[in-house]
Amino acid sequence: MSILVAYASKHGSTQGIAERVAKTLTSAGHEAEASPVEAVGDLSGYEAFVVGSAIYLTHWRKEATRFVRHNRALLGSKPVWMFSSGPLGTEATDAKGRELIVTAEPKEIAEFRKTIGPRDHRVFFGALDPGKLGLPIRVMRKLPPARTHLPEGDFRDWSDIDNWANGIAQHLPGTSATVE
Ligand SMILES: Cc1cc2nc3c(=O)[nH]c(=O)nc-3n(C[C@H](O)[C@H](O)[C@H](O)COP(=O)(O)O)c2cc1C
Repeated sequence: MSILVAYASKHGSTQGIAERVAKTLTSAGHEAEASPVEAVGDLSGYEAFVVGSAIYLTHWRKEATRFVRHNRALLGSKPVWMFSSGPLGTEATDAKGRELIVTAEPKEIAEFRKTIGPRDHRVFFGALDPGKLGLPIRVMRKLPPARTHLPEGDFRDWSDIDNWANGIAQHLPGTSATVE
């Protein structure tokens, strides 16, 4: 099957997840390509879609939301899977018991469940490289309690991502193999 993995990424970690999903789908026997939502052209050749976005302040990136809303009719008529990349850190709380991981769905997903009806939506751990942040955010991270909510590091769980992508591959006709 021909599958588009469309993504919105500000600092590259969601792009990495999207490319990994496309690679896993390809290894499982599908034709899959990853593309930023802004660069996607004609959608009519694709038989299934994976759409993902980084989460910023509990929202999907605007270009991803625009992409889904703009293509609502087409996406609503095809198999669609969605993912979000966000939570940082692997501990639920810090040493002082303050909450670190925000696993809440981005606000847009409730709308997309109604308009598109994705087969699934998954929140994956994200990554944060402070060197890539702009000055206002760098300053904000130094101010308590915000800094505890934005731990730096790469928390992406590649086996979780691979398992999810293999699950998608198995739900679509034409799979030749499952990739371990
Ligand atoms: C200013 C800021 C706000 C963020 N807000 C959230 C949030 O509300 N929920 C969440 O799960 N992750 C949040 N994150 C973490 C990012 O979603 C995470 O770093 C993600 O992997 C970034 O993806 P990207 O590299 O593709 O832009 C935030 C990060 C920053 C820097």
